[in-house]
Amino acid sequence: MLLNVLTCAHELLKESLEEGDVAIDATCGNGNDTLLLSRTVGPSGKVYGFDIQEQAIQKTKEKLQEHNCQNVSLIQDSHESLLNYIEEDFFDGAIFNLGYLPKSDKSIVTKAPSTLAAIEAVLERLKPNGLVILVIYYGHPGGEEEKDAVLSYTSQLDQKAYQVLQYKFINQQNQSPFLIAIEKKKRS
Ligand SMILES: C[S@@+](CC[C@H](N)C(=O)[O-])C[C@H]1O[C@@H](n2cnc3c(N)ncnc32)[C@H](O)[C@@H]1O
Repeated sequence: MLLNVLTCAHELLKESLEEGDVAIDATCGNGNDTLLLSRTVGPSGKVYGFDIQEQAIQKTKEKLQEHNCQNVSLIQDSHESLLNYIEEDFFDGAIFNLGYLPKSDKSIVTKAPSTLAAIEAVLERLKPNGLVILVIYYGHPGGEEEKDAVLSYTSQLDQKAYQVLQYKFINQQNQSPFLIAIEKKKRS
């Protein structure tokens, strides 16, 4: 059975991350991805979660408390500043779930310049074999522009350094979301 885009994102992260790893949720939103990362890296691991909205940080905090997850630092700031907050020199994985917070103010959306700056920062400090997942929703105003910028950037990443996968249902209407997975290759 084909996995939907979000399930596929989570399965790839579960496959790639191990207990004790360091991972980033660049867009916490309702905290579903943060929870997945927290459970996957376990108590010996560490997760950093970012969102610009207080409401998203609060929702994520509540979700983590419900599940007794204590390995997460939540930061209310733009993900383009993420390196200012991360104590470790390198990390193992990250997820960006782009777009707006469901059931909330649809005018607060991720935007191409900060998204690209954050992806670039993450890739710089990603360990070999590390994985970055981008889930791209683009049906809202500004979404097409961000999608095009992200596709242009990721499709031009050096193939000697990264493998880049696109997972997309190509016969769906309504600009359904799709996934980009970037894996840093091992140094040879
Ligand atoms: C599609 S939602 C994320 C869904 C979330 N990962 C989940 O599991 O529920 C996108 C989120 O990105 C946040 N966001 C927008 N611009 C941002 C930025 N520059 N830095 C960090 N978060 C941002 C929004 O506030 C929103 O909560």
